[in-house]
Amino acid sequence: MVLADYDPVYRIWAEAEGMCLGEDDSRGRIRLYLGRNPGLCFVATSGKGIVGTVLCGHDGRRGILRHLAVVPGFRKQGVGRALTARCLAALSRSGIRRCNLYVEDNNPAGMRFWEHLGFRQIKDDYRTFQIRLP
Ligand SMILES: CC(C)(COP(=O)(O)OP(=O)(O)OC[C@H]1O[C@@H](n2cnc3c(N)ncnc32)[C@H](O)[C@@H]1OP(=O)(O)O)[C@@H](O)C(=O)NCCC(=O)NCCS
Repeated sequence: MVLADYDPVYRIWAEAEGMCLGEDDSRGRIRLYLGRNPGLCFVATSGKGIVGTVLCGHDGRRGILRHLAVVPGFRKQGVGRALTARCLAALSRSGIRRCNLYVEDNNPAGMRFWEHLGFRQIKDDYRTFQIRLP
């Protein structure tokens, strides 16, 4: 994925069920994300343009997958699995050994998909804290 893909990619995210978009999904924030994670974010294309997309990054310890979405007419054809495989292979080449992701509570289909691909829910015994920077 490159920044020029932003408009069609954002449309796919906006139309995908179970996807929560926010200020970090603006063009400027995605520019930052792509620059920080070269070779880790992908689009899938067909003759008609972009039909799927995924963001991926890591902090040197854990990989993280975000915003995997495939347009409805192209689902169940292996696109989501292929995009995920590209990300995991790129993480592995970078020396990363585990990859996390978040699924919205209201997205049970998304949870079943990740389970089907071999991801397992971790039973957290911690809370996430956050601070907002200027
Ligand atoms: C989840 C999503 C990305 C799957 O994309 P996809 O291209 O249809 O997935 P694939 O065709 O690659 O499916 C890979 C495998 O998962 C299975 N699968 C797909 N969706 C599934 C679901 N909801 N539940 C269980 N299994 C599912 C497929 O049958 C396939 O199985 P197989 O390879 O053993 O034959 C797509 O449905 C989507 O964009 N959903 C909305 C956004 C979303 O929920 N994103 C993920 C959560 S963040």
